[in-house]
Amino acid sequence: MRFSSILTSFFVFTSVSIATDAQLVPSKANCLVLWAYFPKQVSYAESPAYNTTNSQFWDQTCILSPTCIFYPTSAHDVSIALKYLTSVKGRFAVKSGGHFSIPGYNNINDGVLISTERMKAMTWKAGDTVLELGAGVLWGEAYAKAAEKHKVVVGGRIPDIGVSGFLLGGGLSFIGAEYGFGCDNVVGFEIVLANGDIVYANGSKYADLYKALKGGSSNYGIVTRFDVSAYPDAGGWGGQLLFAIDSNATRERMLDAIADFHINGALDKKTGVIASFLTWPELGLNAFLGNVFYSQSVPTNSPPAALAGLLAVTGTAGLGNKTLGEVVSGTGAGATKGTARNTFHVGSVVATKESIHKVDEIFHAEFAKLANVPGLRTVLVFQAIPPSFVYAGYKNGGNPMGLDASRGTVSWISQSLSWKNAADESKIKLAQRTAKNAYMSWATANGLADKFLYLNDADEFQDVFASYGSENEKFLKKVKKVYDPERVFEKLMPGGYKV
Ligand SMILES: *[C@@H]1O[C@H](CO)[C@@H](O)[C@H](O)[C@H]1NC(C)=O
Ligand SMILES: *[C@@H]1O[C@H](CO)[C@@H](O)[C@H](O)[C@H]1NC(C)=O
Ligand SMILES: *[C@@H]1O[C@H](CO)[C@@H](O)[C@H](O)[C@H]1NC(C)=O
Ligand SMILES: *[C@@H]1O[C@H](CO)[C@@H](O)[C@H](O)[C@H]1NC(C)=O
Repeated sequence: MRFSSILTSFFVFTSVSIATDAQLVPSKANCLVLWAYFPKQVSYAESPAYNTTNSQFWDQTCILSPTCIFYPTSAHDVSIALKYLTSVKGRFAVKSGGHFSIPGYNNINDGVLISTERMKAMTWKAGDTVLELGAGVLWGEAYAKAAEKHKVVVGGRIPDIGVSGFLLGGGLSFIGAEYGFGCDNVVGFEIVLANGDIVYANGSKYADLYKALKGGSSNYGIVTRFDVSAYPDAGGWGGQLLFAIDSNATRERMLDAIADFHINGALDKKTGVIASFLTWPELGLNAFLGNVFYSQSVPTNSPPAALAGLLAVTGTAGLGNKTLGEVVSGTGAGATKGTARNTFHVGSVVATKESIHKVDEIFHAEFAKLANVPGLRTVLVFQAIPPSFVYAGYKNGGNPMGLDASRGTVSWISQSLSWKNAADESKIKLAQRTAKNAYMSWATANGLADKFLYLNDADEFQDVFASYGSENEKFLKKVKKVYDPERVFEKLMPGGYKV
């Protein structure tokens, strides 16, 4: 009864507004209707709330001009808005942390931006073994909440990443070698489906949807709550290493150490390392940045054996006993939030000494040609995914991402580029693809190619769902037909990877 009367008044309101304002484009009418029903939960251009939300993007290119921003506070609010928007075919986008760097994936021009930023509830359940996270929670907040009970959650490696995009795209954390993807540790999703129904999907109810949401991204609805497992915090050790690459010989030693870490160190399930090479040609800067976590505190002056090779090159300055949350807060330092254009591109190779060196050589040779692009900063990241990571993902029914553990540790290679002027975008993107195609050709010829593309590090041209394998892709499509048969989360929500 309630819904139908709400919708009736919506329709009356819409037609009245349109009749009194010939200029009113549909998205303006939709904003007006949402504002009429939720007067304190809609913001318009030039208001402080709108400006704040519309600046909270990691990538400047994601700042668009939504007609208005809607701030739901519950699944019920999302349901009403979705029922209304689908009934009038109103366009929308959804934003959680805003860390994704593809324009239109978390924002929209001429449409309603649904921001989950007021959905920040965090609640302990099941004897403090499960933490319920509202869709607007950022990982820094989740770690702090978990720490109250001396627990950790399997979350992001930068504090201002939101829970939603991270978990729906898989979720690579510092403790993945032990626990798998972030999404493998979600025990239940509260989700608003295309028809406005609010359902709870877990291993026994809506089990197909539950599995599809682990890596199936935004194709099935708007998730309003993620219930994640929390594990005892055994302490930890790590931090950020910054080390100048002052010669080719240093670079070679660093690459040898990274390869050795992939092949040997990463087999210790307590370790998580983001190994990055940074260049900033304008400043002549060339450095190695390592973000390191080991999930156990260690005696002074005796770092874990798993990290010994890396630390023999870099030294240990900046590392010490730290919790996971503390290490993650440190990773955010120096992020370019909202001030640069960014683009990601991802690939994966079986880790060997040769493959790690080859990827580095090809990438840096390609970007050396663009050294004079204003504001160019390049980051080449090696992320070790050992077999234990894949096996950990089998728990709770597994995920549809189709990782292959049969060839030992793979390296997910992320190319992250920042620059200043819009005019340089096509050059940068072409160079990313050229570098990736070259190292993948080399890897294929040497039997070291891995097909997987990690969604959260991919660009808009990469077919991530195909990379999950044909059976998994078929499964994702089948579940899509069940829960979004009209393809609302494609026709009305243009952004995101579509199955
Ligand atoms: C919001 O941003 C616009 C455009 O940058 C600016 O003109 C306006 O003054 C801002 N409004 C507030 C309240 O900050
Ligand atoms: C799924 O959730 C229901 C409660 O909504 C619960 O009874 C059931 O045990 C859960 N199943 C799993 C596998 O967690
Ligand atoms: C370092 O390596 C680059 C690329 O392989 C090469 O062009 C350059 O001459 C080398 N520099 C030195 C000092 O060996
Ligand atoms: C780190 O923790 C270990 C206990 O595992 C302790 O022995 C060591 O003294 C601590 N290091 C520092 C610098 O406090």
